[in-house]
Amino acid sequence: YKRITTNSLIEMKSNGEKISMLTAYDYTMAKIIDNAGVDVLLVGDSASNVMAGHETTLPITLDQMIYHASSVVRASNRSLVVVDIPFGSYQSDSKEALRSAIRIMKESGAHAVKVEGGIEIENALSRIIQAGIPVMGHLGLTPQSIYQFGTYTVRAKEEAEAEKLLADAKLLEAKGCFALVLEKIPAKLAKKVAESLTIPVIGIGAGPDVDGQVLVVHDMLGMTHEFHPRFLRRYANLYDEMSNAFTQYNADVKAKDFPNEKEQY
Ligand code: KIV
Ligand code: NA
Repeated sequence: YKRITTNSLIEMKSNGEKISMLTAYDYTMAKIIDNAGVDVLLVGDSASNVMAGHETTLPITLDQMIYHASSVVRASNRSLVVVDIPFGSYQSDSKEALRSAIRIMKESGAHAVKVEGGIEIENALSRIIQAGIPVMGHLGLTPQSIYQFGTYTVRAKEEAEAEKLLADAKLLEAKGCFALVLEKIPAKLAKKVAESLTIPVIGIGAGPDVDGQVLVVHDMLGMTHEFHPRFLRRYANLYDEMSNAFTQYNADVKAKDFPNEKEQY
């Protein structure tokens, strides 16, 4: 395969080809997604929720992100691998931010990092990009700020927040980000942002008029059956499939049906 690069994504935007991105946190899942032709594997800090069972993305550590990222990198032949820098590893100062980004790149072999925020993280962003590390931005409902928002509802519905978001998006492009994620904002605003930038805008709950889409893989597979926001399309119902398999296995063991004569040495 030809490896997807940050330049391929920018080319895809100018050719009008939509970009597909899914989260991945482990080798086996990442292998399936990469082989299916998905362009970008995002080692999201949503691992904190779906892999570790935390309520928010805040607790996951840099070491834990590097563990997930190195598993995904080993699985990827074609996809670009982007890794979230976790909460607390880039906000305090730009030097720490660069150190965190370097650790991710060196220790996992990933191709790019992602950070949440606009003007607030301007210095960190510049420093990481100046070191030659590609950065993806993330605006809108940025989960690392959940305690400031107080709610997971749609962001930037009001004029002031929408204007700040557009200004932040332009700043991220000017600083050298290669792409931008917009999470849970009005479709109309997302369209305006995508039209205002030359770098690709990848949406989650941001409507169809952006340059690509991302979903959390456990959600789109229907493994997290209690989570059903409007933007989520389920492509499988793995919760029920897996539950049936486990129930059947349990029953077979109890009934002394497994293993049978052919399933032994
Ligand atoms: O961590 C994550 O899964 C993300 C995506 C939802 C964009 O940041
Ligand atoms: Na994230």
